[in-house]
Amino acid sequence: MASVNGNILASPSSDPNGPLFYKGWYHFFYQYNPNAAVWGDIVWGHAVSKDLIHWLYLPLAMVPDQWYDANGVWTGSATFLDDGSIVMLYTGSTDKFVQVQNLAYPEDLSDPLLLKWTKYSGNPVLVPPPGIGAKDFRDPTTAWKTSAGKWRITIGSKINRTGISLVYDTTDFKTYEKHDTLLHQVPNTGMWECVDFYPVSKTKVKGLDTSVNGPDVKHIIKASMDDTRIDHYAIGTYYDSNATWVPDNPIIDVGISIALRYDYGKFYASKTFYDQHKGRRILWGWIGESDSESADVQKGWSSVQGIPRTVVLDTKTGKNLVQWPVKEIESLRLTSKKFHMKVGPGTVVPVEVGPAAQLDIEAEFKIKKDNLEVIFGDDSVTDDKEFSCETSGGSTVRGALGPFGFSVLADQSLSEQTPVYFYVTKGKDSKLKTFFCTDTSRSTKANDVVKPVYGSFVPVLKGEKLTMRILLDHSIVEAFGQGGRTCITSRVYPTKAIYGATKLFLFNNAIDATVTASFRVWQMNGAFIRPYSADDVDA
Ligand code: FRU
Repeated sequence: MASVNGNILASPSSDPNGPLFYKGWYHFFYQYNPNAAVWGDIVWGHAVSKDLIHWLYLPLAMVPDQWYDANGVWTGSATFLDDGSIVMLYTGSTDKFVQVQNLAYPEDLSDPLLLKWTKYSGNPVLVPPPGIGAKDFRDPTTAWKTSAGKWRITIGSKINRTGISLVYDTTDFKTYEKHDTLLHQVPNTGMWECVDFYPVSKTKVKGLDTSVNGPDVKHIIKASMDDTRIDHYAIGTYYDSNATWVPDNPIIDVGISIALRYDYGKFYASKTFYDQHKGRRILWGWIGESDSESADVQKGWSSVQGIPRTVVLDTKTGKNLVQWPVKEIESLRLTSKKFHMKVGPGTVVPVEVGPAAQLDIEAEFKIKKDNLEVIFGDDSVTDDKEFSCETSGGSTVRGALGPFGFSVLADQSLSEQTPVYFYVTKGKDSKLKTFFCTDTSRSTKANDVVKPVYGSFVPVLKGEKLTMRILLDHSIVEAFGQGGRTCITSRVYPTKAIYGATKLFLFNNAIDATVTASFRVWQMNGAFIRPYSADDVDA
């Protein structure tokens, strides 16, 4: 079910590159090492899909064959020009390991598969400017239009420990004017990789093309933090006139440890694109492995790409994005079963769905009203220490109103299990505060695996029930809390809870709360991911 992984051509894939929709096909390029299951010798892999779910591998799109990308064809982005043609900007690591930006374009625009890519003869088009390190200048964004009709891009970098995004204007993608000002900068955040910059609608639940601007629009900056391997984003206002962006809330500015994240689990070097076919913005993230590099070498591949997600501003809160698996994933749904269960404090119940290694779960939880009143009317019950999924001890630590949720990828005896759960607390201000977490600490008996507890606060508005969606695919757990306000992706490696032996449990580990869970579970089909063949022409 994971959209594109390396296991057919072997070796690792990493960053998504230049995603776009063209003549009926979704194109996905990605950082890829054809020679080993570890990072290095980076080329652009290429796959196409009609539905974002089933993928066909195409020949490599670009390989290091020039001095300006001899040490790797690194991350880049696509831009559609006004006449419908496509330009690709990417970073090359030169023969001397200098990071430069290069231009490439499809050789034949009448080819829907965009098989052949031509590198511009005048490359590189940008070299590190004065004051910027030769190895700190990479990952150009998709370009957007300025009010003066030029194209504008941003490129991540750093100066000392300050993460920055440089801005350039161009008319032809060959020559550029650098702005003296930065799009944005945040001290103590280190190198910004794979910066993404795009508008979101304040009022409508739909995606916007990258050049859209105006009073109904907010702008998102996302940067991938090289130091922490976290994709942080922030919401703010973009000023076309001086090419700068200002965060709505500087306390949670891009890259600050408490800033917002696309995903609180394993999710890095992500990129969005505007899908003009369906009027939505789609987000892709690289989901690495949580086991050792030697395990990757042994199995001969590493890393997967997450299920593509639509991304919009949460028009209800205005303070966070909402991500949701693309609708097309529902085409993999097979049989389903509905459940309505009341679970008292300290209960674990099996959910009879048959094999549970590939599932889609949509669930709604209600805490019994009396329980809420007892806890929240009683001033002696306060959490003096703020709860945190990551540091408060995982799903075995019991509170008044949580944890409760599902133990997924579990074996019959629960010796292996990955709980995905809510934990409701009474904050210092006596208000309900809800957290959404995934505890991988008991996910496997294997010992070469990093097994964190992931998660974060999730906004719950008045009158809303607690909801979660979980997509399971053997080693991948993609969890979406409260309609996608908080998302957590994990890689887990059960040794017993595999294939037909995989079970699903519902649990309530709270001390006081009785919880009612209404949910539906679908068995999921696998998606084909295979090399393209001539028979696919009419696919
Ligand atoms: C992010 C990254 C990018 C770079 C690419 C190289 O994972 O380091 O900054 O362009 O990967 O593969």
